[in-house]
Amino acid sequence: MRVPLIAGNWKMNGSAELVDAFGRAFADAQLPASLDVALFPPFPYLDAARRALAETPVKLGAQTLNPLASGAHTGEVSGGMLKELGVEYALAGHSERRQLYREDDEAVLDRLLAALSVSLTPVLCVGETLEERDANRTRDVVLRQVGYVMARLEPVQRRQVIIAYEPVWAIGTGRTATPEQAQEVMAAIREYQASFDRELADGLRLLYGGSMNASNAAELLSQPDIDGGLVGGASLKVDDFLAICQSAG
Ligand code: PGA
Repeated sequence: MRVPLIAGNWKMNGSAELVDAFGRAFADAQLPASLDVALFPPFPYLDAARRALAETPVKLGAQTLNPLASGAHTGEVSGGMLKELGVEYALAGHSERRQLYREDDEAVLDRLLAALSVSLTPVLCVGETLEERDANRTRDVVLRQVGYVMARLEPVQRRQVIIAYEPVWAIGTGRTATPEQAQEVMAAIREYQASFDRELADGLRLLYGGSMNASNAAELLSQPDIDGGLVGGASLKVDDFLAICQSAG
């Protein structure tokens, strides 16, 4: 059985006040017994979030990391530093990083390897643009993004990876993929993984991301190949995020 994961990606949003509100809300919340929850606030809030969420089951994730352990890289943060703060997950290849910061497949792989090297669980984000979907290239694009990374990992490393399918046209647009659209691509990702190893494919946790909210989460999460969500906008509202967590039970 794959344990669902609901991950809240705050992007460059949030405040100390919001961190406290999450701490209070999750201290009182009754979460489904079999569910992982993680918050990915901006770096400056990680330590406060660790303290605010210490008595709750909510884990912490980082939105990115530098591939190197240390050095003359002004403004960057390494996996070891995140680990020291109690972080357990790290995103690699979010479409905003790919597009706005020009991270290509190789840069994504380097970050994912850096996460693995310090025992952070990597969440590999993949997804097609609207142009690629309209050109019927969704499957090729997504499987290339997955394959570039997976083919370069050792079997034991592949088992650590979580994959988030986030169609770029659905991120922050309010335009969610239909459950059928998401399921189709996510089944293709699992099938592709089965070409390496069936057991790996069966255990692989696949998250959907892109305008997931309290109203559409249950239907998306009921699809056989959707094991959780990577939630952006709706993770900034405590009640909405809690409602999404409840619907993953
Ligand atoms: P969204 O973002 O839920 O606001 O669409 C998802 C993401 O980018 O992870």
